[in-house]
Amino acid sequence: MKKKKILVTGAGGQLGTVLVKALQDRKGKENVIATDVYVKPEMQNILVSLDATNIKAVEEIVEKNDITEIYHLAAILSAKGEERPLQTWDINLKSLFTIFEVACKYKINKVFFPSSIAVFGNSAPKQNTPQNAYLDPTTVYGISKIAGEQWANYYFSKYGLDVRSLRYPGIIGHQSLAGGGTTDYAVDIYHKAVKKEAFECYLNENTALPMIFMTDAVRATLELMDAPKHCIKTRTSYNINALSVTPKQLVTSIKKWYPDFKVCYKEDFREKIAQSWPSSILDTQAQEDWNWEPHYKLDDVSNEMFIELNKKYNLHSQL
Ligand code: SER
Repeated sequence: MKKKKILVTGAGGQLGTVLVKALQDRKGKENVIATDVYVKPEMQNILVSLDATNIKAVEEIVEKNDITEIYHLAAILSAKGEERPLQTWDINLKSLFTIFEVACKYKINKVFFPSSIAVFGNSAPKQNTPQNAYLDPTTVYGISKIAGEQWANYYFSKYGLDVRSLRYPGIIGHQSLAGGGTTDYAVDIYHKAVKKEAFECYLNENTALPMIFMTDAVRATLELMDAPKHCIKTRTSYNINALSVTPKQLVTSIKKWYPDFKVCYKEDFREKIAQSWPSSILDTQAQEDWNWEPHYKLDDVSNEMFIELNKKYNLHSQL
């Protein structure tokens, strides 16, 4: 059998950074080609420069490396996307079509495409939002993700392309910073806490959003991709539930480790986006089809974040 070789786009992003390491641990470093559109000089030995909207460049890298599996993470997220809606649509969809077309042409075994809680809008129930709720997103990012989900389903039905997808909640992890999203505060706040700095939160203290710890998010991705093909019954994208958290609850958890932690609230445009998203998710299909189950509760997340961020900032004595 052909050895599995994996291509990851957007590998320098929040999830990509960690997912690439997990894939390398499983398949060997040499079998994971991690790419991103911008590669900082210090990342040049880790990332290969690739514009995922450039079909020729993607074809070249797939052919040269005998790629058999693709994780297409490159995208512009919800908050940043609102600055340039048309460019966001263009980049998110053009890169998706490029990956799907190349995947068909080169008979790629499996493709992973991330969707998001941003597909939901004001018409979906806020609590325990079900898989098949009405979708009327308020951001161009959300619109691009719904379109992506539908195209994933189309490529599966029409061409048999094995595309699998998750609607990620906000991801909280210590390994990388988030960027351009509405849920970013939930990462930034931990960095401020360990540095003993005050945090200014751009969301209302009572706005609950679905979140997931990075370890759970990576495991969900790998479990979905490992599941036997016949188990994957949702070919748009799966809801996955882990946590539902307000800034206030996050602060309460943080204060168990840092009682003097200070936060003030100054809402900006991201509050309106967050208001249009679910506060918690129902993930019955993911549980039934591939046994999804989250492991980390909020205080487990805080505990891990503080252990690891203290190491990162070299503050061993703080805990
Ligand atoms: N974390 C993403 C965002 O905030 C949601 O998928 O845009």
